[in-house]
Amino acid sequence: MSSRRDAWKRFCHSGFCQSGGMRIAVAGSSGLIGSQLCRLAEDAGHEVVRVSRSEGVDVLDAEALAKALSRVEVVVDVTRPAGLDADAAREFFTSAARNLGVEGRRAGVGTTVVLSIVGVDRGQDYGWYVATLAHARATQEWAPGARVLRTTQFHEFPGQVLERAQASGGRRDSVEIMDVPMQPVDSAEVARALLDLATDPAAGDRQLAGPRRERLVDLVRDLIAYEGRDLTVRPGPAPASMAAGSMLPQGDVTIAGPDWHTWLRSRPTS
Ligand SMILES: NC(=O)c1ccc[n+]([C@@H]2O[C@H](COP(=O)([O-])OP(=O)(O)OC[C@H]3O[C@@H](n4cnc5c(N)ncnc54)[C@H](OP(=O)(O)O)[C@@H]3O)[C@@H](O)[C@H]2O)c1
Repeated sequence: MSSRRDAWKRFCHSGFCQSGGMRIAVAGSSGLIGSQLCRLAEDAGHEVVRVSRSEGVDVLDAEALAKALSRVEVVVDVTRPAGLDADAAREFFTSAARNLGVEGRRAGVGTTVVLSIVGVDRGQDYGWYVATLAHARATQEWAPGARVLRTTQFHEFPGQVLERAQASGGRRDSVEIMDVPMQPVDSAEVARALLDLATDPAAGDRQLAGPRRERLVDLVRDLIAYEGRDLTVRPGPAPASMAAGSMLPQGDVTIAGPDWHTWLRSRPTS
């Protein structure tokens, strides 16, 4: 933890905190987005309550959640269940959103921000998107002051898809990747937009995307080449809505951050 954050915490806990920082609970605080959001919020002078099982709080445990949300003003929900079973994910997202909403209301929370995906409503032939849409809808139904941030896939997505394709077995010299157009975004920009929605009283629902339209198979090929690996990518089938472009941003969308290729080449190599 940075010394700046330590100093902030000592200052707040001393009871003399006058800076206007908020008490923000981040559900999914240990995840890709949640961990970046926690750092950003603390660096901006907010007090962060971490909600994840690895940090001691399960969103499905209403009693533990009620304790964690004490004096919280804003909840940001960036949870994601482990595994890819769509029915289990729908069940998880709905219960998590209901618990966060009910316990948040009891605690006096004024604003709840949930992270969703651009185009989920256009992609209901894909089970995971059915679950994700149910997440946003349950938040809107249960949570006080609900706001939805919809973003395109994170820049980490092609790497995650490649990892999953390899883990699922099959040929060792090639992987099948679904052939879909997308416009990925830097996850650091997602964390920034979430903090904005959490703390700006005038903010409402928003959509966010990166600057460049790509094909997922090309990004996975580029990643493999960049890492110097010897693996062939076979374009594979996708749900009809996604193949037709449902993941691409439409309407009022904020474009932010570097394109995928610039992002990849700016990362520290391990
Ligand atoms: N991948 C994309 O490109 C993309 C694009 C747009 C939106 N999104 C959405 O963004 C959200 C966050 O994604 P991410 O990549 O940051 O997810 P992630 O890295 O998988 O993190 C998920 C977080 O949820 C927590 N969690 C899981 N079960 C929990 C439980 N029962 N109680 C409390 N916390 C729990 C995990 O912590 P523990 O395991 O420690 O509990 C972890 O902190 C997801 O809802 C995803 O659908 C993703």
